[in-house]
Amino acid sequence: MYGIVNKAIEGLVTTNFGEEKWETILEESGVDHDVFSGNEIYDDKITFDLAIAASKVLDMSLSDVLIAFGKYWVLITAKKHYGSLMDTGGQTLREFFTNLPNFHSRVMLLYPNIKPPEFDIEDISENELKLKYFSRREGLTDFVHGLILGLGEAFDITVETHLIQGRKDGLPYDEFLVKW
Ligand code: HEM
Repeated sequence: MYGIVNKAIEGLVTTNFGEEKWETILEESGVDHDVFSGNEIYDDKITFDLAIAASKVLDMSLSDVLIAFGKYWVLITAKKHYGSLMDTGGQTLREFFTNLPNFHSRVMLLYPNIKPPEFDIEDISENELKLKYFSRREGLTDFVHGLILGLGEAFDITVETHLIQGRKDGLPYDEFLVKW
């Protein structure tokens, strides 16, 4: 994945737990880099090793690390650093979800070699939808859980979400119910 992802993990840790914890996590991960360049592509294993090391060092479950990372990705990486791109996603939470399937086609103008996620949205009612997440990667289900919660926070709305069914059931996608 592009280094921006690893830089975001670093940002999440240093902002909430301090530089020293990040140094410990880097050491624990065995990752052979101490600086990441946002525009360079790194092996996916590095990202997963960093998340696993963070869970050990911070004494959090991997699932909680990925949820926190998803929220950070939306609220800090995306909203703070790519505010105008995020604005193209929609003016309301509902609009943002409706436009989400096309979002990474705009991200690809900045990161052309990205392997983007795919989303499919099915409306259920005014405040409820189903979100399907397709990925070429495994292990990011909880990250998406955090992204959904982060989008709620970005629009100042309390969102509830849970996985209805997914890859753990042998499907080629994860399906979340999202309510607000
Ligand atoms: C301006 C904001 C955003 C930028 C610049 C951005 C950029 C990226 C980049 C560079 C990656 C790494 C993939 C790779 O290198 O192959 C990625 C992955 C991902 N992004 Fe975004 N993204 C943004 C917003 C969002 C939002 C709002 C969501 C969903 C709510 C999202 C969901 C994901 C997911 C799920 C992945 C993991 C990819 C996979 O499943 O393989 N991103 N994004």
